[in-house]
Amino acid sequence: MAAAASQDGHDTGGPDQYRRLHAASLADPEAFWLEAARAVDWSTPPVAALDASAAPLYRWFPDASLNTSYNALDRHVEAGHGDRVALVHDSAMLGTTRSYTYAGLRDEVAVFAGVLAGLGVGKGDRVLVYLPMIPEAVVAMLAAARLGAVHSVVFGGFAPAELAARIRDARPAAVVTASGGLEPGRRVEYLPAVQEALALADSTGTPVVAKAREGFVHRIGDYRQSGSCWVDWDDAVSAAEPVDPVGVAATDPLYILYTSGTTGAPKGVVRDNGGHAVALTWSMREIFGIGPGDAMLTASDVGWVVGHSYIVYGPLLAGATTILYEGKPVGTPDAGAFGRLIEQHGVRVLFTAPTALRAIRRADPDGALLRSHDLSALETLFSAGERLDTGTSAWVADVLGTPVVDNWWQTETGWPICANPRGFGGVPLKPGSPSLPSPGFDVVILDQHGTPVPAGTEGGIALRLPLPPGTLPTLWGSDARYGDSYLAAFEGYYTSGDSGYMDEDGYVFVMGRTDDVINVAGHRLSTGAIEQVLAQHPAVAECAVLGLRDPLKGQRASGYVVLKAGVSVDPTDLEAELVAMVRGTIGPVADFRSAVVVDALPKTRSGKILRKTMRQMAAGEPYAVPSTIEDPAVLAVLEPLLRPVPAE
Ligand code: COA
Ligand code: AMP
Repeated sequence: MAAAASQDGHDTGGPDQYRRLHAASLADPEAFWLEAARAVDWSTPPVAALDASAAPLYRWFPDASLNTSYNALDRHVEAGHGDRVALVHDSAMLGTTRSYTYAGLRDEVAVFAGVLAGLGVGKGDRVLVYLPMIPEAVVAMLAAARLGAVHSVVFGGFAPAELAARIRDARPAAVVTASGGLEPGRRVEYLPAVQEALALADSTGTPVVAKAREGFVHRIGDYRQSGSCWVDWDDAVSAAEPVDPVGVAATDPLYILYTSGTTGAPKGVVRDNGGHAVALTWSMREIFGIGPGDAMLTASDVGWVVGHSYIVYGPLLAGATTILYEGKPVGTPDAGAFGRLIEQHGVRVLFTAPTALRAIRRADPDGALLRSHDLSALETLFSAGERLDTGTSAWVADVLGTPVVDNWWQTETGWPICANPRGFGGVPLKPGSPSLPSPGFDVVILDQHGTPVPAGTEGGIALRLPLPPGTLPTLWGSDARYGDSYLAAFEGYYTSGDSGYMDEDGYVFVMGRTDDVINVAGHRLSTGAIEQVLAQHPAVAECAVLGLRDPLKGQRASGYVVLKAGVSVDPTDLEAELVAMVRGTIGPVADFRSAVVVDALPKTRSGKILRKTMRQMAAGEPYAVPSTIEDPAVLAVLEPLLRPVPAE
C-alpha cells in the first residue's frame, strides 16, 4: 500500500493513513481491493473486484483464478527464497524443534497432494483434517488446496459425535488424521475417535490417511481390517508422486470451518480462495506488520479460525516464518513458555488469546519467568478470541514491554473486523477497545429496530454489506441458512451476534454475545448444543445452559436442570453423569463441570424458557422481567445461583 500523505503532501502514517485508507475502502471498494489484489499471484488476474449480481450474496474477484497453495509456497521458492524458513514446529510436549524451508515444505505438500490424488481426491472434493499441532496438519491443508480440494479441519478437543456431524455435512472424500494428540498428562487417541465418527456418519468407506506417532495404544494397522481404506501417512508418501498446483476460480471454496451457532447443528463457514488470499496478504502487512522472513507465533490451534488465518495461510502468503507450537502457555514446562519461544525463534509478533495471558499471570504474577528470556525480538502482542480485560492487557504490556493489540473478529470474517493497524504505525490504543474498523468493514451499532444509535450507546454490532474479501460468502450447502442466520435481521447488514458500542472517535468496544453462543477459554461453544446433550438424560425434563463469568476462561458453561415429575436422584451423581455425557458427546473442550438441579426455569406463559433474561442475570446486567412470565418467583430463586463472579 502506498505511504500515507496528508493534504499538504507529507507522509504521516498512523491515524491519518488509517482514516484515509478506511474511507477509501468504503468509498471505492473496487479500486481498493483491485490494488490490494496486486500482491497475489493469479493465473488469471482479476479485472473486476466485487460481484453484486446475487446481492445480498456477494462474491469477490469473479473473473479471476489462482491457487492458494502456490501463493503460500511455490511463489516464494520461484522468487529465490526456497531456503527461507517457512515453518518451525516447536513441540514443548516432546521437547523437539524442526524447521521446514519453503522449498522443503513445498515438496512435502506436493507429494502429499499426490497421496490425496491417488485416493481419488480432486477439485471441489472435501478433505476432513483431524490432526493435532504437528506439521502434517499444515501439509494436509496446503495439499488439499493444491488440488483445488476443500479442507475442513476439526479441532482435536471435539468428541466423535461432533466429528461425525461435520463428516455428515461435508461428505469428505478422504480423512487425514494421526495416532493422536498430546495434552499435558494424557494422550488423546484419535484413531478410535475417527473410526467411531465415520460409523456414526455412515461413512466407513471413506479413505483415511493417518500419521503414526509414537507412544499411542492404537495403531493404523489395527484399523485396516475394519472394511475401510486406512493408509499409513509415511507409506503413502514414499509411494506417491508430487502434483502441481491446480488453478481454481477465486470464488471456489478453499475451506469449510465449522463453528458454533445458536442451535446444536454447527455452521459450515465457507472461505473462498481469491478474496481470502487478498485479504490475508493485506492484513499481514498492514495490520500485523509482518513481512518476508519475519517470525510470527500464533499460539492457537489449526482447528480454529485464528489458526487457519495466522498460523497457516497469513504467514506463508507473506513469505514469513510461522511457529507451530505444540504446547500450552503454562505448565509445558512453565509460564515462561512464550518467552522461550520468542527468544529461541526471534518471534516478532505473538498472537494469543486473553485466557492464555490470564493463565500466565495467575501462574507467574510478576512475569519473572517471561522476563527471564530475551524478549527483544518481540514488537507486538496481538490478542483475540474473547474480550481482553484492561487489567490483563496492562499487566502483559508491562511484562513484555510491547504494545498489546486487541483485535475483534469471528470465524465468519476470517480476519480482524477491528484492529490497530501496526503496519502503518498504528493508531493510539484505548484500553478495552480493539480499536477501529479495518478497511473494508463498515461497522454500525444498531438498536433492536435496526436503527443506528449515537456514539456511546450500546447495541448490536452490525456490518453494512458488502463484507470485504476474505469473509464468508455463504454457509456450506445452504445460502438460505446463511441468509437466515446473518442477513435477515436487518436488510443491508450482516449481524455479528456481538453487542457493543462505538465512542466519539469511532473506536469499537465489544461487550459480549447477544445470542446463545458462549466463549470458554477462547473456544466458541453453543449452549444449545450442550442443552441437547443434557436433555437426553432420562431424569431431565428440561434444562438451560448459560455462560457464567469465569476469572480464567472468560466464561464457563453451567447447566440448570429440572427433573421429570416423580424422579428422585442424588444431585451429585446426576451432575457427574451429565458432565460425563457432555465430555463424551461434545468433547473435553466444552469444559463442562457444573449442572445444578432447580425446581423450575423461568418461562413465559406459552412455555418458552427466558434464556435472555437468565443470560442478563448471569452477566450482572440490568434485566427486564417480561410481562408474559409464568411465575416471577422462579427468578428470585435463580438469581443467587447466577450471580456473576467479580472480575479479577
Ligand atoms: N485435543 C484434546 N483435548 C483438548 C485439546 C485438544 N486439542 N485442547 C484442549 N483439550 C482439553 C484439555 O486437555 C482439557 O481437558 P481436561 O478437562 O481433561 O483437563 C479440556 O480440553 C479443556 O481445555 P482448556 O479449556 O484449553 O483448558 P486447560 O486447562 O487445558 O488450559 C489454558 C487452559 C488457558 C492454558 C488454555 O485454555 C489455553 O491455552 N487457552 C487459549 C485458547 C486459545 O488459544 N484459543 C484459540 C482462540 S484464538
Ligand atoms: P470465533 O468465531 O471462535 O473466533 O469467536 C468469535 C467470537 O469471539 C466473537 O463473536 C466475539 O464474541 C468473541 N471475540 C473474538 N475476539 C474478540 C475480542 N477481541 N473482543 C471481544 N470479543 C471477541
